[in-house]
Amino acid sequence: MLRRVPPSLRRALLSSASPHYGRVHVRNPSLSPSQALLHQWRRQASVASPSAPTPPPPPPPPSPPRGPSRLGGGGPTVSSLNPAEVAKFAALAETWWDANGPFKPLHLMNPTRLSFIRSTLCRHFRRDPYSSKPFEGLKVIDVGCGGGILSEPLARMGATVTAIDAVDKNITIASIHAASDPTTASIEYCSTTAEALVKEKRMFDAVISLEVIEHVANPLEFCESLSALTVPNGATVVSTINRSMRAYATAIVAAEYILRWLPRGTHEWSKLVTPEELSLMLQKASVSVEEMAGFVYNLLSGEWSLSNDISVNYIAFGVKSEMPSTNGT
Ligand SMILES: C[S@@+](CC[C@H](N)C(=O)[O-])C[C@H]1O[C@@H](n2cnc3c(N)ncnc32)[C@H](O)[C@@H]1O
Repeated sequence: MLRRVPPSLRRALLSSASPHYGRVHVRNPSLSPSQALLHQWRRQASVASPSAPTPPPPPPPPSPPRGPSRLGGGGPTVSSLNPAEVAKFAALAETWWDANGPFKPLHLMNPTRLSFIRSTLCRHFRRDPYSSKPFEGLKVIDVGCGGGILSEPLARMGATVTAIDAVDKNITIASIHAASDPTTASIEYCSTTAEALVKEKRMFDAVISLEVIEHVANPLEFCESLSALTVPNGATVVSTINRSMRAYATAIVAAEYILRWLPRGTHEWSKLVTPEELSLMLQKASVSVEEMAGFVYNLLSGEWSLSNDISVNYIAFGVKSEMPSTNGT
Protein backbone atom coordinates (compact mmCIF):
# COMPACT_ATOMS: atom_id res chain seq x y z
CA MET A 1 0.00 0.00 0.00
CA LEU A 2 2.75 2.42 0.88
CA ARG A 3 5.51 3.12 -1.48
CA ARG A 4 9.13 4.02 -1.14
CA VAL A 5 10.53 6.40 -3.68
CA PRO A 6 13.37 4.51 -5.17
CA PRO A 7 12.33 2.99 -7.51
CA SER A 8 8.54 2.69 -7.23
CA LEU A 9 7.73 6.30 -6.39
CA ARG A 10 9.51 7.45 -9.47
CA ARG A 11 7.33 5.11 -11.54
CA ALA A 12 4.22 6.21 -9.67
CA LEU A 13 5.09 9.87 -10.08
CA LEU A 14 5.45 9.43 -13.76
CA SER A 15 2.29 7.38 -14.13
CA SER A 16 0.25 9.77 -11.97
CA ALA A 17 1.32 12.85 -13.88
CA SER A 18 -1.59 14.43 -15.67
CA PRO A 19 -1.02 13.92 -19.37
CA HIS A 20 -2.84 17.21 -20.02
CA TYR A 21 -0.29 19.40 -18.36
CA GLY A 22 3.03 17.80 -19.04
CA ARG A 23 5.27 16.00 -16.62
CA VAL A 24 8.16 16.77 -14.42
CA HIS A 25 10.44 13.79 -14.41
CA VAL A 26 12.10 13.25 -11.08
CA ARG A 27 15.81 13.41 -11.64
CA ASN A 28 15.47 14.14 -15.33
CA PRO A 29 19.11 14.03 -16.36
CA SER A 30 18.75 17.05 -18.63
CA LEU A 31 17.18 19.34 -16.04
CA SER A 32 18.06 20.10 -12.44
CA PRO A 33 15.05 19.70 -10.09
CA SER A 34 14.54 23.44 -9.83
CA GLN A 35 14.87 23.89 -13.60
CA ALA A 36 12.33 21.14 -14.13
CA LEU A 37 9.97 22.76 -11.66
CA LEU A 38 10.35 26.14 -13.27
CA HIS A 39 9.86 24.55 -16.66
CA GLN A 40 6.60 23.02 -15.50
CA TRP A 41 5.33 26.19 -13.89
CA ARG A 42 6.26 28.37 -16.86
CA ARG A 43 4.17 26.14 -19.13
CA GLN A 44 1.14 26.84 -17.06
CA ALA A 45 -1.23 29.63 -17.96
CA SER A 46 -3.02 31.73 -15.36
CA VAL A 47 -6.48 30.81 -14.10
CA ALA A 48 -9.16 32.63 -12.17
CA SER A 49 -10.16 31.34 -8.74
CA PRO A 50 -13.50 29.46 -8.71
CA SER A 51 -14.77 31.45 -5.76
CA ALA A 52 -18.10 32.42 -7.33
CA PRO A 53 -21.21 30.66 -6.00
CA THR A 54 -21.66 28.76 -9.27
CA PRO A 55 -19.57 25.69 -10.06
CA PRO A 56 -16.09 26.61 -11.15
CA PRO A 57 -15.17 26.58 -14.82
CA PRO A 58 -13.75 23.42 -16.34
CA PRO A 59 -10.25 22.68 -15.17
CA PRO A 60 -8.00 25.23 -16.70
CA PRO A 61 -4.30 24.99 -17.21
CA PRO A 62 -2.75 25.66 -13.82
CA SER A 63 -1.22 28.97 -12.94
CA PRO A 64 2.19 29.33 -11.38
CA PRO A 65 2.25 29.40 -7.59
CA ARG A 66 1.64 32.87 -6.24
CA GLY A 67 4.18 35.03 -4.55
CA PRO A 68 7.72 35.64 -5.65
CA SER A 69 9.57 32.57 -6.77
CA ARG A 70 12.65 32.07 -4.67
CA LEU A 71 14.36 29.33 -6.58
CA GLY A 72 17.50 31.44 -6.46
CA GLY A 73 17.94 30.75 -2.76
CA GLY A 74 17.98 32.95 0.33
CA GLY A 75 16.49 32.28 3.74
CA PRO A 76 12.83 31.77 4.55
CA THR A 77 10.71 34.85 5.26
CA VAL A 78 7.11 35.32 6.39
CA SER A 79 5.86 35.23 2.81
CA SER A 80 4.10 31.85 3.14
CA LEU A 81 1.12 33.71 4.59
CA ASN A 82 -1.73 34.23 2.15
CA PRO A 83 -4.16 36.69 3.81
CA ALA A 84 -7.18 35.46 1.81
CA GLU A 85 -6.54 31.85 2.88
CA VAL A 86 -5.99 32.85 6.48
CA ALA A 87 -9.32 34.71 6.42
CA LYS A 88 -11.11 31.59 5.10
CA PHE A 89 -9.89 29.52 8.03
CA ALA A 90 -10.55 32.27 10.59
CA ALA A 91 -14.20 32.23 9.49
CA LEU A 92 -14.44 28.50 10.19
CA ALA A 93 -12.42 28.36 13.41
CA GLU A 94 -15.30 27.51 15.72
CA THR A 95 -16.26 24.44 13.71
CA TRP A 96 -12.99 22.52 14.08
CA TRP A 97 -14.31 19.93 16.49
CA ASP A 98 -17.71 19.51 14.86
CA ALA A 99 -17.24 16.08 13.32
CA ASN A 100 -20.08 16.81 10.88
CA GLY A 101 -19.00 20.36 10.08
CA PRO A 102 -16.75 21.76 7.36
CA PHE A 103 -13.78 19.78 8.63
CA LYS A 104 -15.61 16.45 8.48
CA PRO A 105 -13.33 15.19 5.68
CA LEU A 106 -10.26 15.82 7.84
CA HIS A 107 -11.87 14.05 10.81
CA LEU A 108 -12.67 11.08 8.57
CA MET A 109 -9.16 11.03 7.08
CA ASN A 110 -7.42 11.35 10.42
CA PRO A 111 -7.05 7.64 11.29
CA THR A 112 -5.66 6.93 7.83
CA ARG A 113 -3.14 9.73 7.82
CA LEU A 114 -2.11 8.83 11.38
CA SER A 115 -1.53 5.28 10.24
CA PHE A 116 0.87 6.53 7.53
CA ILE A 117 2.64 8.81 10.02
CA ARG A 118 2.90 6.05 12.61
CA SER A 119 4.35 3.54 10.18
CA THR A 120 6.83 5.89 8.48
CA LEU A 121 8.06 7.58 11.68
CA CYS A 122 8.36 4.29 13.54
CA ARG A 123 10.40 2.81 10.71
CA HIS A 124 12.59 5.88 10.43
CA PHE A 125 13.17 6.38 14.15
CA ARG A 126 13.29 2.63 14.85
CA ARG A 127 10.28 2.64 17.14
CA ASP A 128 7.84 -0.17 17.85
CA PRO A 129 4.68 0.67 15.89
CA TYR A 130 2.66 -1.55 18.23
CA SER A 131 3.69 0.39 21.32
CA SER A 132 0.99 2.58 22.85
CA LYS A 133 3.43 5.51 22.88
CA PRO A 134 5.69 4.95 19.88
CA PHE A 135 6.72 8.61 19.64
CA GLU A 136 7.89 8.96 23.24
CA GLY A 137 10.83 11.37 23.35
CA LEU A 138 10.34 12.68 19.80
CA LYS A 139 9.93 16.42 19.31
CA VAL A 140 7.25 16.91 16.66
CA ILE A 141 5.77 20.08 15.19
CA ASP A 142 2.37 20.24 13.48
CA VAL A 143 2.57 23.23 11.11
CA GLY A 144 -0.85 24.68 10.26
CA CYS A 145 -2.50 22.62 13.00
CA GLY A 146 -5.95 24.17 12.71
CA GLY A 147 -7.99 23.05 15.73
CA GLY A 148 -5.47 20.36 16.65
CA ILE A 149 -7.19 17.28 15.26
CA LEU A 150 -3.82 15.79 14.30
CA SER A 151 -1.77 17.35 17.13
CA GLU A 152 -3.81 15.65 19.84
CA PRO A 153 -3.34 12.05 18.70
CA LEU A 154 0.36 12.76 18.11
CA ALA A 155 0.62 13.80 21.76
CA ARG A 156 -1.31 10.69 22.80
CA MET A 157 1.27 8.62 20.93
CA GLY A 158 3.90 10.10 23.25
CA ALA A 159 5.36 12.89 21.09
CA THR A 160 6.34 16.22 22.61
CA VAL A 161 4.15 18.32 20.35
CA THR A 162 4.44 21.94 19.27
CA ALA A 163 1.52 23.01 17.09
CA ILE A 164 1.30 26.28 15.21
CA ASP A 165 -1.22 28.02 13.01
CA ALA A 166 -1.44 31.40 11.35
CA VAL A 167 -4.99 31.92 12.65
CA ASP A 168 -5.22 33.09 16.28
CA LYS A 169 -8.73 31.73 16.70
CA ASN A 170 -7.63 28.24 15.64
CA ILE A 171 -4.97 28.25 18.33
CA THR A 172 -7.49 29.41 20.95
CA ILE A 173 -9.93 26.64 19.99
CA ALA A 174 -7.14 24.04 19.86
CA SER A 175 -5.75 25.06 23.26
CA ILE A 176 -9.14 24.93 24.96
CA HIS A 177 -9.90 21.52 23.47
CA ALA A 178 -6.50 20.05 24.38
CA ALA A 179 -6.66 21.37 27.94
CA SER A 180 -9.52 19.01 28.80
CA ASP A 181 -7.27 15.93 28.58
CA PRO A 182 -4.04 15.56 30.58
CA THR A 183 -2.29 13.73 27.71
CA THR A 184 -2.91 16.62 25.32
CA ALA A 185 -2.72 19.53 27.77
CA SER A 186 1.06 19.60 27.34
CA ILE A 187 0.86 20.52 23.62
CA GLU A 188 2.64 23.80 23.01
CA TYR A 189 0.18 25.75 20.86
CA CYS A 190 1.34 28.94 19.25
CA SER A 191 -0.17 31.37 16.79
CA THR A 192 2.74 31.88 14.44
CA THR A 193 4.27 30.75 11.15
CA ALA A 194 6.95 28.22 10.31
CA GLU A 195 9.15 31.06 9.06
CA ALA A 196 8.99 32.84 12.42
CA LEU A 197 10.08 29.67 14.23
CA VAL A 198 12.95 29.25 11.79
CA LYS A 199 14.17 32.69 12.83
CA GLU A 200 14.04 31.50 16.44
CA LYS A 201 16.18 28.53 15.36
CA ARG A 202 13.64 26.01 16.65
CA MET A 203 14.19 22.44 15.39
CA PHE A 204 12.21 19.22 15.61
CA ASP A 205 12.77 15.52 15.01
CA ALA A 206 9.66 15.42 12.83
CA VAL A 207 7.94 18.28 11.02
CA ILE A 208 4.41 17.51 9.89
CA SER A 209 2.22 19.76 7.80
CA LEU A 210 -1.00 18.30 6.51
CA GLU A 211 -3.31 20.03 4.03
CA VAL A 212 -1.54 23.38 4.40
CA ILE A 213 0.83 23.81 1.46
CA GLU A 214 -2.07 24.38 -0.95
CA HIS A 215 -3.06 27.41 1.15
CA VAL A 216 0.29 29.19 1.41
CA ALA A 217 1.52 32.07 -0.72
CA ASN A 218 4.79 30.48 -1.73
CA PRO A 219 4.99 26.67 -1.58
CA LEU A 220 8.71 26.46 -2.28
CA GLU A 221 9.54 28.89 0.48
CA PHE A 222 7.18 26.99 2.77
CA CYS A 223 9.09 23.76 2.02
CA GLU A 224 12.33 25.53 2.83
CA SER A 225 10.89 26.56 6.19
CA LEU A 226 9.68 23.03 6.94
CA SER A 227 13.15 21.76 6.13
CA ALA A 228 14.84 24.40 8.26
CA LEU A 229 12.70 23.28 11.21
CA THR A 230 13.74 19.64 10.72
CA VAL A 231 16.90 18.34 12.39
CA PRO A 232 19.44 16.68 10.07
CA ASN A 233 18.22 13.13 9.38
CA GLY A 234 14.85 14.14 10.82
CA ALA A 235 11.51 13.51 9.12
CA THR A 236 9.27 15.84 7.14
CA VAL A 237 5.72 14.75 6.34
CA VAL A 238 3.47 16.75 4.02
CA SER A 239 0.02 15.96 2.69
CA THR A 240 -1.95 17.85 0.09
CA ILE A 241 -4.16 17.50 -3.00
CA ASN A 242 -2.80 16.73 -6.43
CA ARG A 243 -3.44 19.23 -9.22
CA SER A 244 -5.04 16.64 -11.45
CA MET A 245 -8.28 16.38 -13.41
CA ARG A 246 -9.53 13.82 -10.91
CA ALA A 247 -8.80 16.17 -8.04
CA TYR A 248 -10.71 18.92 -9.79
CA ALA A 249 -13.71 16.63 -10.27
CA THR A 250 -13.68 15.12 -6.78
CA ALA A 251 -11.95 17.45 -4.32
CA ILE A 252 -13.46 20.64 -5.78
CA VAL A 253 -16.60 20.01 -7.84
CA ALA A 254 -17.92 17.04 -5.84
CA ALA A 255 -16.71 18.00 -2.34
CA GLU A 256 -17.51 21.71 -2.55
CA TYR A 257 -20.38 21.98 -5.06
CA ILE A 258 -22.25 18.66 -5.01
CA LEU A 259 -21.71 17.00 -1.63
CA ARG A 260 -21.06 20.36 0.05
CA TRP A 261 -18.57 18.81 2.42
CA LEU A 262 -16.48 21.97 2.25
CA PRO A 263 -17.41 25.62 1.75
CA ARG A 264 -17.13 26.67 -1.88
CA GLY A 265 -13.79 28.17 -2.67
CA THR A 266 -11.94 26.19 0.04
CA HIS A 267 -9.54 24.92 -2.59
CA GLU A 268 -8.28 26.75 -5.63
CA TRP A 269 -7.34 24.25 -8.27
CA SER A 270 -4.48 26.38 -9.50
CA LYS A 271 -2.86 26.32 -6.05
CA LEU A 272 -2.87 22.55 -5.72
CA VAL A 273 0.53 20.87 -5.83
CA THR A 274 1.41 17.77 -7.82
CA PRO A 275 3.52 14.98 -6.26
CA GLU A 276 6.31 15.84 -8.68
CA GLU A 277 6.33 19.47 -7.61
CA LEU A 278 6.21 18.56 -3.94
CA SER A 279 9.09 16.11 -4.28
CA LEU A 280 11.16 18.62 -6.20
CA MET A 281 10.49 21.48 -3.82
CA LEU A 282 11.38 19.30 -0.84
CA GLN A 283 14.45 18.04 -2.63
CA LYS A 284 15.50 21.62 -3.32
CA ALA A 285 15.06 22.21 0.42
CA SER A 286 17.35 19.24 1.27
CA VAL A 287 14.51 16.84 2.09
CA SER A 288 14.45 13.64 0.10
CA VAL A 289 10.98 12.10 -0.32
CA GLU A 290 11.26 8.41 0.46
CA GLU A 291 7.68 7.26 0.67
CA MET A 292 4.36 8.40 -0.67
CA ALA A 293 0.80 7.13 -0.42
CA GLY A 294 -2.59 8.20 -1.66
CA PHE A 295 -5.78 8.50 0.35
CA VAL A 296 -8.83 7.08 -1.35
CA TYR A 297 -12.42 7.45 -0.22
CA ASN A 298 -14.87 4.57 -0.35
CA LEU A 299 -18.31 6.00 -1.01
CA LEU A 300 -20.03 2.86 0.28
CA SER A 301 -18.21 2.52 3.59
CA GLY A 302 -17.62 6.26 4.03
CA GLU A 303 -14.04 5.48 4.99
CA TRP A 304 -10.64 6.56 3.73
CA SER A 305 -7.79 4.17 3.19
CA LEU A 306 -4.17 4.26 2.07
CA SER A 307 -3.56 3.42 -1.55
CA ASN A 308 -1.04 3.57 -4.36
CA ASP A 309 -3.36 6.02 -6.08
CA ILE A 310 -1.87 9.48 -5.55
CA SER A 311 -4.01 11.16 -8.17
CA VAL A 312 -6.10 13.15 -5.66
CA ASN A 313 -5.19 13.21 -1.95
CA TYR A 314 -1.69 12.12 -1.08
CA ILE A 315 0.92 12.22 1.66
CA ALA A 316 4.71 12.23 1.45
CA PHE A 317 7.36 11.24 3.95
CA GLY A 318 10.84 12.69 3.49
CA VAL A 319 14.16 12.70 5.30
CA LYS A 320 16.24 15.83 5.78
CA SER A 321 19.75 15.35 4.54
CA GLU A 322 22.58 15.28 7.04
CA MET A 323 24.36 17.97 5.03
CA PRO A 324 22.39 20.81 3.41
CA SER A 325 22.57 20.87 -0.38
CA THR A 326 25.35 23.12 -1.64
CA ASN A 327 24.72 23.00 -5.38
CA GLY A 328 21.89 25.56 -5.30
CA THR A 329 19.61 23.46 -7.51
C1 LIG B 1 -6.96 22.64 5.76
S1 LIG B 1 -6.40 23.23 7.28
C2 LIG B 1 -5.44 21.86 7.85
C3 LIG B 1 -5.38 21.77 9.34
C4 LIG B 1 -4.57 20.60 9.91
N1 LIG B 1 -3.23 20.58 9.39
C5 LIG B 1 -5.24 19.29 9.62
O1 LIG B 1 -4.95 18.70 8.57
O2 LIG B 1 -6.06 18.86 10.42
C6 LIG B 1 -5.14 24.39 6.85
C7 LIG B 1 -4.61 25.16 8.06
O3 LIG B 1 -3.42 25.84 7.69
C8 LIG B 1 -3.43 27.11 8.31
N2 LIG B 1 -2.52 27.96 7.52
C9 LIG B 1 -2.70 28.46 6.28
N3 LIG B 1 -1.61 29.13 5.88
C10 LIG B 1 -0.70 29.01 6.88
C11 LIG B 1 0.63 29.47 7.05
N4 LIG B 1 1.25 30.16 6.10
N5 LIG B 1 1.26 29.18 8.21
C12 LIG B 1 0.64 28.47 9.17
N6 LIG B 1 -0.63 28.02 9.07
C13 LIG B 1 -1.28 28.28 7.92
C14 LIG B 1 -4.87 27.53 8.29
O4 LIG B 1 -5.16 28.52 9.24
C15 LIG B 1 -5.57 26.21 8.60
O5 LIG B 1 -5.75 26.02 9.97
